[in-house]
Amino acid sequence: MTRPLRAAVIGAGAISLQHLPFLQRSEWADLVGICDLSPVSAEIAARKFGAAGHYTDVAAMLEQASPDIVHVLTPPQSHGPLVSMALSAGAHVICEKPMSPTAEEAEKLLAEANAAGRHLIENHNYRFNDEVIALQQVIADGRIGPVREVDIRMSLPIRDEGSRFADANVVNAIHSMPAGVLHDFITHLSYLMLDLAGVRHFERVMAAMSNHGGGDLFTYDDLDAVLISHEDVDGPETDSVPVHGRMRFSCRTSPDLFSIVVRGEDGQAATDIFHPFLDVVVARPGGEQLTPIVNHIVNGTSLARSGFRNFGRKLLQHTPYHGLERFLDQTYAAIATDRTPPVSAADVLDAARLVDQIVTAGGRS
Ligand SMILES: NC(=O)c1ccc[n+]([C@@H]2O[C@H](COP(=O)([O-])OP(=O)(O)OC[C@H]3O[C@@H](n4cnc5c(N)ncnc54)[C@H](O)[C@@H]3O)[C@@H](O)[C@H]2O)c1
Repeated sequence: MTRPLRAAVIGAGAISLQHLPFLQRSEWADLVGICDLSPVSAEIAARKFGAAGHYTDVAAMLEQASPDIVHVLTPPQSHGPLVSMALSAGAHVICEKPMSPTAEEAEKLLAEANAAGRHLIENHNYRFNDEVIALQQVIADGRIGPVREVDIRMSLPIRDEGSRFADANVVNAIHSMPAGVLHDFITHLSYLMLDLAGVRHFERVMAAMSNHGGGDLFTYDDLDAVLISHEDVDGPETDSVPVHGRMRFSCRTSPDLFSIVVRGEDGQAATDIFHPFLDVVVARPGGEQLTPIVNHIVNGTSLARSGFRNFGRKLLQHTPYHGLERFLDQTYAAIATDRTPPVSAADVLDAARLVDQIVTAGGRS
């Protein structure tokens, strides 16, 4: 094995608790520093996760700890300057989503990384969850035929008392992003949509962003978007087919869910990232008469198994963040061995452009 990468973290807040355990135990990483504006947060995190040093000044950490790779885990508005500093110091960067408020900024940062010969990778963690990988496999195996529709729906009670977005006394920085708090979720919905639809771009994007709960704190609390790709290429001369996407975010439907349905020409597959299962409806032996019955038996059995599996996962604390560890492991392994990381610059830019399209369309009304 090559030597571990010297890893440093900027931002010791909530999401660092998902990155730091990986950095503490991975054989690919050597945790050389943690920086936070709060000296107490930096020191506690350094002690808990065994970092060699703790800092309140990013420049000092970059100079003294000379990391090979830096995780930028601060609020989105601060990402740009911190990513630039880390790249200038010669480090690769893993940046939390959303990497920047606009695709234009993302493009500039990616160009900086390219010029510096470093990787700049946005965290697309849910692409690496077991159930999303299972969906990707169903599609890759051709079980549901060419993909025609992808529905992604997230329900989270972000306006309820106790939510970190609902505190008017300590206003979460995400509220000042172009889509307000929705910006925290749209990147996830966008990279999943592009990945599962198998397209790099949606030609038509119609969207409505609403503030159903009213008030000044939330700019928006609801998203409804319709996306259409490759409208005019459904012909024998091309392999591409038009794909429709539907994206919903609501804070008014419960319980929490993160459901994905992919429909192809020959069947459909569904899962939920928060309540994992895999349901596949395809033509089964027995023809038209028996297909619905066989699908019910197969999927019913699979659903019952998911119940037991999810109970076991709960006991083992296998949370919906498990894809983040897989994303980090594959990214570190790729960088350490000079291979292509699993999230490319094009993936990051395509997702940022789709976010821009949705935010522009959704904010129009
Ligand atoms: N991938 C995911 O599933 C996921 C989940 C939650 C949050 N996030 C993203 O992670 C990022 C951080 O979110 P969070 O919830 O951890 O925020 P947070 O507010 O809990 O933590 C941010 C930390 O960064 C520190 N900080 C801010 N500016 C700094 C600077 N210039 N130098 C050093 N430290 C600085 C703050 O003191 C704070 O401790 C956001 O972009 C958010 O959208 C991603």
